[in-house]
Amino acid sequence: MIKIKSQEEIELMRIAGRITRDTLKVVGDSIKAGVSTKELDEIAYNYIKSQDATPSFKNYCGYPASICASVNDTIVHGIPNKNIVLKEGDIISIDVGAKYKGYNGDAARTFAVGKIDAKTKKLIKVTEQSFFEGIKDLKSGAFVGDISHRVQTYVEKNGFSVVRELVGHGVGKQLHEDPMVPNYGKAGSGPRLNANCIIAIEPMVNMGEKNVVFMPDGWTCKTKDGLPAAHYENTVLITENGVEILTL
Ligand code: MF3
Ligand code: CO
Repeated sequence: MIKIKSQEEIELMRIAGRITRDTLKVVGDSIKAGVSTKELDEIAYNYIKSQDATPSFKNYCGYPASICASVNDTIVHGIPNKNIVLKEGDIISIDVGAKYKGYNGDAARTFAVGKIDAKTKKLIKVTEQSFFEGIKDLKSGAFVGDISHRVQTYVEKNGFSVVRELVGHGVGKQLHEDPMVPNYGKAGSGPRLNANCIIAIEPMVNMGEKNVVFMPDGWTCKTKDGLPAAHYENTVLITENGVEILTL
């Protein structure tokens, strides 16, 4: 069942979204060669706590940290680790959620560590732009498949591939609610989105083939071919006439 949020719930989701966005900014500003992903996790944890919120991911299905920190060929759900230290030329996707008065924000960005090569730069840009393609014309009454189709078409037109195993989702009191929001599919398919529903749209884009592998930790998801991947996500409120992005 796709939940329709009340005005009171939307107001709390706006605050959760703002804290989530600001956490990404604080973590992003700390990204440089020599920093470990564990240190970035601590920065996120401390910032979220300072805002009277709690990290949505910590202990979610047993997840051990406040952020997912996914370097280079790790697509998503990289577990922060003091032995994973950033170096010049890496890319890192940070995914974070903040829960405020019972409501969750969820967002992700991919950052460059110093100078990166042109094709990897394009990967990050295309991933980000695929989100904005996905929300074009999005408003009350649209189909989930309209988003999926737009994201997939844009990514593939640019020569990259879309991950199938993981998808976007409704978000609210629960981090993951209905509906699932795949980044591939047909326009006009799937459930309809009505005003005041809130979803996380999160393209995961591989430079090479779409295939993924999961590591024995049960979380870390990597590209099978070892090429880099990028991730971009926002929490989005559907309105009568369009959308309001709660984590921008
Ligand atoms: N944005 C990610 C997702 O929606 C965050 C989940 S990580 C988890 O899947 F650890 F909380 F599961
Ligand atoms: Co998400």
